[in-house]
Amino acid sequence: MSEAYDVVIIGGGPGGYVCAIRCGQLGLKTAIIEKRGRLGGTCLNVGCIPSKALLHASHAYEGAAHHYADMGVEVAGVKLNLEKMMAKKDDAVDGLTKGIEFLMKKSKVTYLKGFGKIIGKNKVTATAEDGTVSELETKNIVIATGSEVAPLGDIKIDEEKIISSTGALALKKVPNKLVVIGAGVIGLELGSVWRRLGSEVTVIEYLDRITPGVDLEIAKGLQKSLTKQGMKFELGKKVTSAVADKKGVTLTFEPAAGGDATTLEVDAVLVAVGRRPYTDGLGLEEVGVEKDARGFVPNHHWKTNVDNIYVIGDATHGPMLAHKAEEEGVAVAEILAGKPGHVDFNNIPGVIYTTPEVAGVGKTEEELKAAGVEYKVGKFPFMANSRARANYETDGIVKVLEDKNTHKILGVHMLGVGVGEMIAEAGLAIAFGASAEDIARTCHAHPTMSEAVKEAAMAVDGWAIHV
Ligand code: NAI
Repeated sequence: MSEAYDVVIIGGGPGGYVCAIRCGQLGLKTAIIEKRGRLGGTCLNVGCIPSKALLHASHAYEGAAHHYADMGVEVAGVKLNLEKMMAKKDDAVDGLTKGIEFLMKKSKVTYLKGFGKIIGKNKVTATAEDGTVSELETKNIVIATGSEVAPLGDIKIDEEKIISSTGALALKKVPNKLVVIGAGVIGLELGSVWRRLGSEVTVIEYLDRITPGVDLEIAKGLQKSLTKQGMKFELGKKVTSAVADKKGVTLTFEPAAGGDATTLEVDAVLVAVGRRPYTDGLGLEEVGVEKDARGFVPNHHWKTNVDNIYVIGDATHGPMLAHKAEEEGVAVAEILAGKPGHVDFNNIPGVIYTTPEVAGVGKTEEELKAAGVEYKVGKFPFMANSRARANYETDGIVKVLEDKNTHKILGVHMLGVGVGEMIAEAGLAIAFGASAEDIARTCHAHPTMSEAVKEAAMAVDGWAIHV
């Protein structure tokens, strides 16, 4: 059966499904094809959402087991019920995926379960699990196929002992010893989950720092906090082999520049060295859509080199973040509806949901130095923030970077409990071209952690009150 659509979206993750909803709102006849059988993509099914559910639950467990007594809350007999914790996480995911299916109906979007393939400039097929093929005629196509786990050498991921983020969200028991390869976002978030639940966690990182791309001062602060919590770091090291057997995993690593090797016997290894675009098997070569050497589909205002074929999210360039994909989904929908779609790539926040959290938006200090931009910096430690003191959550700082000449805020970087929620203020300030003084003269409620943002903004001009 052949039906004509305005747009067919391949991939039902945060990029694809948000694009579909916006297309529906704008009156475009829209279809979305998803092979997983559930909408929400990596983020909702095996990424952002389940990891946050486990971060929340493991934080509560660690608090009850080790920290609540400090506040006079004595809890006896704290026990981990991992099966229940996992079931709760699955429940959160289930509810959200059903919610997205409902939103598809509400937006009058046709949802096809199956593997989407472009078979012509205006033709897409969806092959269902039982082999049934639906053919769709369409004016436009949006590639929103996301990314997959990047493998590491010939290390074989079995999702039981040698795991990716997917396996790390579904372990059936707490490994005594866990090695995490890669001190990036996934490694530190999921490493935190298992450390809180009782694992001895060692993170092996190739570079001589953790979380590349994050403002260095913030990254160093995070490493210090995580070390204090018991996480071990081996920086400037490369893993040369990891082999699973019945007992566990034998892992060997050595200095990045070569040298004496160290061998560890551990229960599990989490490979978290990045993700790569998922762009194979989509028929791109056949219709002439270009890919770069790493498999990304380049774009110009989300248009590929083929006129009516667009690309958004992890499948194209830019940060591999759900909210970046969502913004792009909206922009493409608006372009297809004849409106000016726009995303400010300078204003995409990044959050790491460890304790304390990391949140940043705009340029880092290293980026400003490299670009030769003249800037002023204001910092404020949570140690001097009354709410943080009252909550015994004083780790971290807020740092505001302002252009010395234009006075526009160029970047805001934070380490602290709950800063993932606080970064939106900084994003809004950047969007409106605000100066540090604009934040400094905005009344913030007392006592709140967000007063640290105001004080860091004041510190840019040397008038922070509480330091
Ligand atoms: P990542 O790019 O954040 O970190 C990978 C780390 O592995 C880097 O520090 C890198 O230097 C290191 N590495 C690479 N090869 C290595 C090797 N051979 N040996 C040792 N270390 C090595 O990638 P990650 O953590 O896998 O996350 C994938 C993507 O998913 C990222 O783009 C991330 O932003 C995104 N994500 C975002 C989250 C969030 O926003 N909170 C949560 C989870 C993932």
